[in-house]
Amino acid sequence: MAQTDTATRGNWNSKLGFILAAAGSAVGLGNIWRFPTEAASNGGGAFLIIYLICCFLIGFPVMMAEISMGRKTGKNPVGAFKALSSNKFYPLIGMWGVLCGVMILSFYTVVAGWTVSYVLEEILFFAGNPEWATWIGNTGNGWLNAIFSVAFMSATVSIIMGGVSDGIERATKTLMPLLFVILIVLIGYVVMQPGSGKGLATYLRPDFSMVTPALIFDAMGQAFFSLSLGMGALITYGSYLSKKENVPQAAALVTTTDTIVAFLAGLLIIPTMYMAQAQGITIFNASGDLIAGPALIFQVLPSLFHELGGLWGAMLGITFFVLLSVAALTSTISLLEVPVSYAIDEFQIKRKKAAMYIGLGILAVSLVISFQTSLIGVLDTIFSQIGLPLGGILICLFLSYEWKVQNAFEELDTGNPGFSQSLVGKVWKVMVMIVCPIVILYNLLSPYL
Ligand code: TRP
Repeated sequence: MAQTDTATRGNWNSKLGFILAAAGSAVGLGNIWRFPTEAASNGGGAFLIIYLICCFLIGFPVMMAEISMGRKTGKNPVGAFKALSSNKFYPLIGMWGVLCGVMILSFYTVVAGWTVSYVLEEILFFAGNPEWATWIGNTGNGWLNAIFSVAFMSATVSIIMGGVSDGIERATKTLMPLLFVILIVLIGYVVMQPGSGKGLATYLRPDFSMVTPALIFDAMGQAFFSLSLGMGALITYGSYLSKKENVPQAAALVTTTDTIVAFLAGLLIIPTMYMAQAQGITIFNASGDLIAGPALIFQVLPSLFHELGGLWGAMLGITFFVLLSVAALTSTISLLEVPVSYAIDEFQIKRKKAAMYIGLGILAVSLVISFQTSLIGVLDTIFSQIGLPLGGILICLFLSYEWKVQNAFEELDTGNPGFSQSLVGKVWKVMVMIVCPIVILYNLLSPYL
């Protein structure tokens, strides 16, 4: 249905639409780039196990909390806190969330721009223009970063302008299946190549001696970032969800999809690194650790694709960066939707105008980061590593002790009758009231203890 009045809030057309949009938000650069390298450099299977525990024991309950607040109120993160409590202090939690989203989007856009520039880099290289390829693949060139950030932000803004069902839902319905297919094809190719077995072993063999408080801190931060939790993205997406739908089940599906994609991405990236090593490419840095982060994605992997050469190298290289771009786009739209829904609900600004101006504002920050890429690490630490778990604690505490679990149960029972009486329901109550806040807080403080 066409959305004629752009000031009204939208709705998902179907349950699948919500699942794909929420899973699209969750599945992003965090899964395909950050998760595999964290796992590889943090004890492989041991990190994987701790990460799974963080996702299902901590992330999943917080996700249910967010979706239930959103669906109950039909509001953006700030509006949801306003609607559920008369205390003026609580909407500040929502504002902190909106701020985290805005700041994460500002650096995410720059990295997303790199993924697009590397699609072109691979095309140019395999078209026989290695000099141009090197030129365009220079992530240290501020002007290039700025141009690709503008391009990526434009794509994000144009989807958000389309609204909930005609913009977000339609885009994610095409992009998510595409992402799955590309991922599976790439894994299929890579695991059959020489050298990849060693990578599989590094990835899956648990080294429990590496489990330290710092590792658990990393795994938890990664789980929050990957599941898009702690800043109200899922309050917002939940606000467009019909009362008929089953919230616990939807949250379980989104958590599982995101975890599966992260796991699969590990099956792709880590064997690929060892394949690269088998081709004589350095995959360890000077201190003996696996090369991680931007250097892995934008140096090690392209050199492998170039080394392979020919049709396979070209296909692998180009589709790999298309995969990353697609994953990034379904995530940036969820990050932009949060401040846009805030502007629509709270200031009655029309969707198109809100998307345009907020997108431009965030782009201004991205342009600064384009020339000052060292800011990415700083912003990531403040707004995702610390900001999201902090938001998660506050959401759990608010739900438990201000809105009250009984009221949340009423919302969760809508669409899933009897949930509050079920075992999962009872466990969830203990998790949001006690376990999640304590475990997250302990983890946040552990680096300083
Ligand atoms: N989850 C995305 C990823 O893994 C990033 C992301 C999108 C996000 N929306 C979010 C992170 C909202 C936190 C909050 O790349």
